[in-house]
Amino acid sequence: MRISFCCSHTRAEPWLEGFRQALPGADIELWQPGAPAADHAVVWAPPQQFFDEQPRLKGVFNIGAGVDALLKLKPPAGATLVRIEDGGMAVQMAEFVAHAVVRHFRELDVYDREQANAHWEFRRPRVRKDYPVGVMGLGVLGERVAQGLLHFEFPVRGWSRSPKQLAGVECFAGAEQFDAFLRGSRFLVCLLPLTPETAGILNRENLSRLLPGGYVINVARGAHLVEDDLIALIDGGHLAGATLDVFRTEPLPPEDPFWRHPKITVTPHTSARTMRDETIAQIAGKIRAFERGEPIAGVVDARRGY
Ligand code: NAP
Ligand code: GLV
Repeated sequence: MRISFCCSHTRAEPWLEGFRQALPGADIELWQPGAPAADHAVVWAPPQQFFDEQPRLKGVFNIGAGVDALLKLKPPAGATLVRIEDGGMAVQMAEFVAHAVVRHFRELDVYDREQANAHWEFRRPRVRKDYPVGVMGLGVLGERVAQGLLHFEFPVRGWSRSPKQLAGVECFAGAEQFDAFLRGSRFLVCLLPLTPETAGILNRENLSRLLPGGYVINVARGAHLVEDDLIALIDGGHLAGATLDVFRTEPLPPEDPFWRHPKITVTPHTSARTMRDETIAQIAGKIRAFERGEPIAGVVDARRGY
């Protein structure tokens, strides 16, 4: 069995070594133009040339959770696309979102600014029930985020495409329940995949429906957010601020207003990083199952877009 590794922005050597240990007997190589045809591919944002030269691929294993970039390409028609499910990302996402929620709820952002002026003044405690958190996307990451927030006793609401039941979470589904979901949320966390249906969903119309003083946390993809709409709603006072981990252009250009906006926190697409060892173990397990003809989880439905 031949496996081709083609991941941009990644130092290949430790990955190749890890896959060689996890799949002894397999021939695992870093892709170069003109390389022999492989049976499986491990990819992150490969060039189209990679797929054009690999017509025999049976499995394409994405080393991230989101497949929006992959679905812009044309993989071979017969290839099964598979994404990472959790692989060490869910706990990172849960801690990142819990931190952003607690930081704003407890006004730690305000105390940071006051420390700079040696100003000692405590603020009246906020009441948790006034700060319901709405999680858009109740998949592998969204469900874990929701569970994390329940530990801190926030009211948690969730929205997904198909109906769900999660203990302690008020669940909403589909376009018909979106309005009720938004109108009862003060924090809004985006953990949707980027698809034609979800692109631009964090727009003026939808964000205006949040409870006054709403706070947006986008940890999914930059193209979910209409950037000018967010700034207008913060500057106009309906929203209190935002934590943004993902952007339409990455790296975020130095001149982007998000960098200097006093109510926006920027992080460099780092809320949940791919963990090499867990990812190698998960993909190797799926390749073995695939070769045995067994069903595997995390198969992408290209028509659905995730
Ligand atoms: P997932 O397991 O596929 O979950 C996606 C969730 O979104 C599901 O609950 C799905 O509903 C829901 N959904 C999809 N389309 C919808 C629509 N039109 N309306 C309402 N709900 C919709 O994905 P995941 O593993 O949790 O990852 C989510 C996203 O996080 C990824 O696609 C990626 O873009 C992003 N991500 C970001 C980072 C980072 O570092 N910032 C790291 C990893 C992932 P159903 O349950 O009904 O299918
Ligand atoms: C990261 O953004 C991922 O999709 O895994």
